[in-house]
Amino acid sequence: MYVWPCAVVLAQYLWFHRRMLPSKRILEIGAGVSLPGIVAAKCGAEVILTDTEELPQCLENCERSCQINNLLGIHIIGLTWGQISPNLLSLPEIDIILASDVFFEPEDFEDILTTVYFLMKRNPAAQFWTTYQVRSSDWSIEALLYKWKLKNVHIPLGSFNADKEHLANSPLPGRHTIEMMIISL
Ligand SMILES: C[S@@+](CC[C@H](N)C(=O)[O-])C[C@H]1O[C@@H](n2cnc3c(N)ncnc32)[C@H](O)[C@@H]1O
Repeated sequence: MYVWPCAVVLAQYLWFHRRMLPSKRILEIGAGVSLPGIVAAKCGAEVILTDTEELPQCLENCERSCQINNLLGIHIIGLTWGQISPNLLSLPEIDIILASDVFFEPEDFEDILTTVYFLMKRNPAAQFWTTYQVRSSDWSIEALLYKWKLKNVHIPLGSFNADKEHLANSPLPGRHTIEMMIISL
């Protein structure tokens, strides 16, 4: 587990919009080491980190990231994409859903959007902020967004100073092609 190139781009977006984060409740899905969620929490948001229920070590990584960043009281729960689980059903109201580099396996795309759609139906004003790495020009979620009647706005990286190979003194995102979009109902 490590910080994926998409994560620094999403973290940069959060940092760029840090003044709007206090008072927001933010849920990160597929959080891994949780850089975007950690940045959001440091900026004053109330954050819930989630990763698959099936791999407890992923949830331990979320926990460890919170500890080394001196963040106490962050909720960490198992949330597997596409599953309507007790954990999903018991989530509180959410303002923003975060996901960095979760669109990497086309067979998971619909499961991810099922979870996002479910959350948005319960939180109609919520937005889904996501960054993804362009790994194949054949992969697209556009048809699925249409199917689920979700709106999609592309956010140019230059609009939040993320159109660089190195962000925040890190060697990431490097030369990978990263895109950002905001999805809403
Ligand atoms: C490419 S990593 C990205 C991790 C982190 N968001 C980042 O950008 O550094 C994908 C993440 O999705 C999680 N994941 C994979 N399949 C999942 C599923 N079915 N449900 C929930 N999370 C899943 C993995 O455990 C991993 O943390």
